[in-house]
Amino acid sequence: MIIGIPKETQPSEKRVAIAPDNIAAFAKLGYEVVIENGAGEQANLANPAFVEAGARIADSASAVWGDSDLILKVTPPSMEESEMIKEGATLISFVYPARNEELLKKLCERKINLLAMDCVPRISRAQSMDALSSMANVAGYRAVVEASHVFGRFFTGQITAAGKVPPAKVLIIGAGVAGLAAIGAARNMGAIVRAFDTRPAVKDEVKSLGASFLELDFEEDGAGSGGYAKVMSKEFIEAEMKLFAEQAAEVDVIITTAMIPGKKSPILITEEMVKSMKQGSVVVDLAAEGGGNCELTEAGTAKVAYGVTIIGYTDFPSRLPTQSSKLFGNNLVKLVQLLGTADDFSINQDDEVVRGALVLDQGKISWPPPPVETSVAPAKKPETPQEEVAEEKSKNPLLSGGFLLGLLSVSLLALGWNGSSEFLDQITVFVLACFVGYMVVWNVTPALHTPLMSVTNAISGIILIGGMLFVSGANPWLAGVAIFVATINVAGGFLVTQRMLKMFRK
Ligand code: NAI
Repeated sequence: MIIGIPKETQPSEKRVAIAPDNIAAFAKLGYEVVIENGAGEQANLANPAFVEAGARIADSASAVWGDSDLILKVTPPSMEESEMIKEGATLISFVYPARNEELLKKLCERKINLLAMDCVPRISRAQSMDALSSMANVAGYRAVVEASHVFGRFFTGQITAAGKVPPAKVLIIGAGVAGLAAIGAARNMGAIVRAFDTRPAVKDEVKSLGASFLELDFEEDGAGSGGYAKVMSKEFIEAEMKLFAEQAAEVDVIITTAMIPGKKSPILITEEMVKSMKQGSVVVDLAAEGGGNCELTEAGTAKVAYGVTIIGYTDFPSRLPTQSSKLFGNNLVKLVQLLGTADDFSINQDDEVVRGALVLDQGKISWPPPPVETSVAPAKKPETPQEEVAEEKSKNPLLSGGFLLGLLSVSLLALGWNGSSEFLDQITVFVLACFVGYMVVWNVTPALHTPLMSVTNAISGIILIGGMLFVSGANPWLAGVAIFVATINVAGGFLVTQRMLKMFRK
C-alpha cells in the first residue's frame, strides 16, 4: 500500500505533511512512502533527507495523486488536485468541511474516504492526533516572535551602564493551547505576562507558566462541551472589555486567541482601546481568521493604526514550517496507526476518533459526526449519599490492602510465637510499626504526599541504622529485610527529589 505526500500548492504554504523522521514509523506498518519532488523544500526538509529515511521521490504531482492509496496533506486539496486522486483512495488533511461544500461534492465523485485533521475530537485519547492543537501551539509561540520583531524594545528588563530597561508587559486573552504557548514564550523572553480566560479552570496552568491570571468580579464559567469554550453572556463580555480597556493603556503587547469554534470571534479590543495604547505597542490577533478579536484587525496582514501595529496573519504555523511539519507528521502517524497496517487498513467507524474525523465514507458524506461529550472543565463531583460513601470505602483497594497487611502480621506473629523472646519482641515492634505507618499514610491526602515523603525518608534513615546495629544479632535476616526496604525508600526519595528539582531548574 502506497502513502503519497504531494507538494502543498496554496500560495505561501511552506509546510509539508510529514518529516523524514516519520517514514520509519510508516515503514514499520508496512507502507511504502512516495513524496513529490521538492515537497519539503520550503520547510528545510529536502529530498535527500526523505530518500535516506526510505521514501521514494515522484517527479510529478499526478504521479503521487494517481498512484497512492493513502494521501497525506496539510491544506484541503484544490479542485485540480481532487481530479487527480485515485478512485477509492483515502485522503487525510485539514478539510474544514463547514466552509468547503463544493470541494466535498467534487470529492464525493471520486468515491474516496476523507478524514479531516480539523475534526479529530478533542478527547484525551486523541491528543496525539490533535493537529489543531499542535498548530495552535506553534501559532502561539510564533505570535510572540512576530510581536517582539516589531516591538521596538527588549521583552526582558535590564539594568546596564547605559540605563535601566523595564520589562515589556504582555497581555494574553484566551489561555487555550495558543494562549498557553504564547505565555510560555513571552515569559521565557523575560516579559511580565498576564492572562485572562473565561474558563477559571485554566488559572492554575497560567500561574504555573509564570504569568498572573486576571480575574473578574463576575460569576460565569466559560467551559463548554467538546473541549472548547462557550459563548459568554453580553454582561460578561462587557465586564471583561472594561478590564481590557484598563489593561490596554498599561501593557505593551496584547495577544488575543479568544474563539468559540463555528462562531464569529468576539470583539474584545475596540478601536478606542487601541487608541489608548502606548506608541509602538503591538496587538497580535490570532483569531483573525474567525473575524478577529480586535476591531481593527485585517485578516492576513499587519497594519499600523494610532502608532500600534496590529498583526492579523492567518498563517502562523506556516511561518515556522520545519517545526509545524514535524508536529503535523507526528499527528498523522498516530492517526494512520489507528487505521491499521498496510495489510489490515480499514476505516473503523466504531472508533470515536476515526468516526469524528470521517467526512466522506467511500464517497458518502458522513459529516457532522454524532457529538462526543467532553469538557475542559473539571467534571463536577456527583453528590455521593452517605451510605454510598461507606460502601465505597469498603471497596477501597487500600482497605483490602489493610486486610492483607493484617493477615501478614498475624502470620508473622504465629511464625514467631515459638521463637526466642527477642525475636518475639522484634516482630511485635515490626508489626506495630507496619500498622501505625499504614494508618498514617492511608489518611494523608495525595496533595501532601511530598512532605510525607520527607518524613518517611527520615524514618527510613532511623530504620537503616537500627537494621545495621541488629544485623550481627540473633535475627540477621529480619535486620536484612529492614535494611533492604529502608534503602529502597531512601533511594526512591532521592530520585523523586531530583526529578522535582529538575522541574524548577531553567
Ligand atoms: P482554544 O479553544 O484552545 O483556546 C481559545 C481560548 O479562548 C479558550 O481557552 C477559551 O476559553 C478562550 N475564550 C473564548 N472566549 C473568550 C472570551 N470572550 N474572553 C476570554 N477568553 C475567551 O483555541 P486554540 O487552539 O488555542 O486557538 C486559539 C485561536 O488561534 C483560534 O482562533 C485559532 O483559530 C487561532 N489560530 C490561528 C492561527 C493563525 O495562523 N492565525 C493558527 C492556529 C490557531
